[in-house]
Amino acid sequence: MAQTWTPNSWRQKPIQQVPDYPELAALEAVEARLAKYPPLVFAGEARRLKSALANVAEGRGFLLQGGDCAESFAEHGADTIRDFFRAFLQMAVVLTFGAQQPVVKVGRIAGQFAKPRSSGVEKQGDVTLPSYRGDIINGIEFTEEARVPNPERQVMAYRQSAATLNLLRAFAMGGYANLENVHQWMLGFVKDSPQAERYRKLADRISETMDFMKAIGITSENHPSLRETDFFTSHEALLLGYEQALTRVDSTSGDWYATSGHMIWIGDRTRQPDHAHVEYCRGIKNPLGLKCGPSLSADGLLELIDLLNPANEAGRLTLICRFGHDKVAEHLPRLIRAVEREGKKVVWSCDPMHGNTITLNNYKTRPFERILSEVESFFQIHRAEGTHPGGIHIEMTGNDVTECTGGARALSGDDLADRYHTHCDPRLNADQALELAFLLAERMKGGRDEKKMVVNG
Ligand code: TRP
Ligand code: MN
Repeated sequence: MAQTWTPNSWRQKPIQQVPDYPELAALEAVEARLAKYPPLVFAGEARRLKSALANVAEGRGFLLQGGDCAESFAEHGADTIRDFFRAFLQMAVVLTFGAQQPVVKVGRIAGQFAKPRSSGVEKQGDVTLPSYRGDIINGIEFTEEARVPNPERQVMAYRQSAATLNLLRAFAMGGYANLENVHQWMLGFVKDSPQAERYRKLADRISETMDFMKAIGITSENHPSLRETDFFTSHEALLLGYEQALTRVDSTSGDWYATSGHMIWIGDRTRQPDHAHVEYCRGIKNPLGLKCGPSLSADGLLELIDLLNPANEAGRLTLICRFGHDKVAEHLPRLIRAVEREGKKVVWSCDPMHGNTITLNNYKTRPFERILSEVESFFQIHRAEGTHPGGIHIEMTGNDVTECTGGARALSGDDLADRYHTHCDPRLNADQALELAFLLAERMKGGRDEKKMVVNG
């Protein structure tokens, strides 16, 4: 049934979430320019990520995926990138220790600019304007001028992605990601946390492990793997004209790759099997994500799996489940059972953010307890089904924002106004993100101990 795929075959299909560009000629000119620019990532890197994810699909790794809901031009700067990476790496260390497995590190960064919207327009008082669709499309200011989609923004997003990726590559390989550093930052976090007592146990065990390694002569000087890390990028492949312009043939394999990021995902609003976004994604060889929300049926999921991963290749497809803390128990088991019954190889990841958004004091927010509760249920359900809870997908920042309530510092609804900076959805701040990692690591250890008890009798 599969018809010939080309980088532009999606243009023959129905499509959701398309911006209304006033001048198509200007849009085409930008796409033609982008098509000549260098790729942001390389096919070999995407293949390496795919094989790391294949290990996760087979139960031998854990995926940590996170970053801004939407990157913005205004917050582009070295400090923002550094602080994000610093928080992210600390989470990775804690989760590596908790899982006793490699953590595959994937940022929602260096390309995460386009946002699907539930309504095409936004109303404030008597004024109705087109919705903000992300900095790659239009401006967030509530003015007529800002909200007109401007294709030049795609070039700005490309350049920001290139600069961000450049710094991240330097951080990942140039010594900043040294395990010893990351461990020291983590100890600083624990010392200052109101929950210090609770987190110290795990932190102390990591410290002892590091000391032991040092004692037997394993150091970052003689083991590069202690000072370097593989870090990958990802974003929602929403703006297909931009994606198409950066779709390139890999000269070594002859295959097509999206070179806008290592992994791209399909949103819950654009996953219709006969529509454009699925069409585009099925033809590129990168690892793919698929957001799975409450409206996805088991048969609908199997149909999408066949379209997106016909060869049933492990690592190709990550199912990013986003049901809500109170709905995950209703929806996740039926999807797991269908996938298991058909023997499909997938990574199961939990997005505990998007199903848990509420409005409080006129701010969109997410209570930390609900985020934690969805992840916990996700783990419990997988344990009960005998499948691998393969990862988490979170919206986070390295900055000290006040966007999600709760956490050890018990941010309240009244605190939201202090530092609410997001361009779209509320993110965990650095402390909340790290806390989530500690709480999950505790659970992972608990799960392992339980398994051992069963095995030993
Ligand atoms: N290279 C290993 C890894 O990426 C160990 C490591 C080095 C690491 N720096 C890190 C792990 C920072 C987590 C965070 O897993
Ligand atoms: Mn979001």
